[in-house]
Amino acid sequence: EKANMALIFERYKDRIIVLPKEKGWHTENLYLYQGHWFPSKYLFSIANVMGSQKTFQAMPSDIYLATLPKSGTTWIKALTFAIVNRTMYKNNSLSTHKLLSSNPHDCVPFIENEILRANPTSVVENCPRIFATHTPYTSLPQSIIDCGCRIVYVCRNPKDVLVSLFHFANKVRDESLGIITFEEAFKLFCEGVIPSGPYWDHVKGYYKATSEHPARILFLTYENMSVDIANIVKNLAKFLGYPFTKEEEAAGIVEEVVKICSFEKLREVNKHGNIRAGIPKHAFFREGRVGDWSNHLTDEMSHILDQITKEKFRDEMVNA
Ligand code: A3P
Repeated sequence: EKANMALIFERYKDRIIVLPKEKGWHTENLYLYQGHWFPSKYLFSIANVMGSQKTFQAMPSDIYLATLPKSGTTWIKALTFAIVNRTMYKNNSLSTHKLLSSNPHDCVPFIENEILRANPTSVVENCPRIFATHTPYTSLPQSIIDCGCRIVYVCRNPKDVLVSLFHFANKVRDESLGIITFEEAFKLFCEGVIPSGPYWDHVKGYYKATSEHPARILFLTYENMSVDIANIVKNLAKFLGYPFTKEEEAAGIVEEVVKICSFEKLREVNKHGNIRAGIPKHAFFREGRVGDWSNHLTDEMSHILDQITKEKFRDEMVNA
């Protein structure tokens, strides 16, 4: 995949090097393309995004899970995978469930990274195909918009996204780049310079799409998921076309899905090893709760972010 990455970058290099550039989080730089910032290399790179726009082919039965990094991607991948493939629970086979041995990122691939594979989409054996993406709505491959497939968006409080991204970036950053300080991270976040950011534009893009196509795009928040995950799982299953039957509910299958996808369970299963893309599995499980930002942001930082969010969401009903 590394060799493919270099090849794809080479293909789009002339278009990329002329774009505005800023300091990156897990990579050296971020480039501004179609109003959003994309990593200079590695996974989710700008070249991958350009490549997927050109070649990725969606199918009407596909399911797409869209998020900004650190907004609950791993969680929604696990939940969707478990809901759609829940026959695996039958006959008491919970102990052999794939999520108990594989990381959710190895079960549900990102469209931006699929392009790196010699045999794209080969990893998705199941129908419907489930993919994730960090790409903003307005930059998605056209076939996803056109084919009428379902999209689930998960949004998270910007302050928790900032803190989570800060920790994650320092875990996976190339050593040669040194660490990123929290002050630096805060400044970049406020300026909108995060992978697939600005935060507010990403959220607004999907929010607007949800209000225009409510049957096709489901908008969830990490915070609501943290409060009442069982109900969200039921609604999500219905939205995806896989509603739980009364018998399944009585048999406690909803609770089983919730449990197998819980932060505690996933963290326990993912203590060792790397995902296929080379990132340590444990890097995706840190605190797993709402409000950890209060341990990192000063009152002044919190106030500044509140002001920016209020201003940016003035016209939306999003309560971020
Ligand atoms: P924290 O760093 O605040 O702990 P993503 O999956 O989009 O990369 O986001 C990672 C964030 O989601 C991390 O947040 C991580 O701990 C949290 N997370 C991962 N799995 C989770 C789960 N099953 N339930 C709740 N939160 C989870």
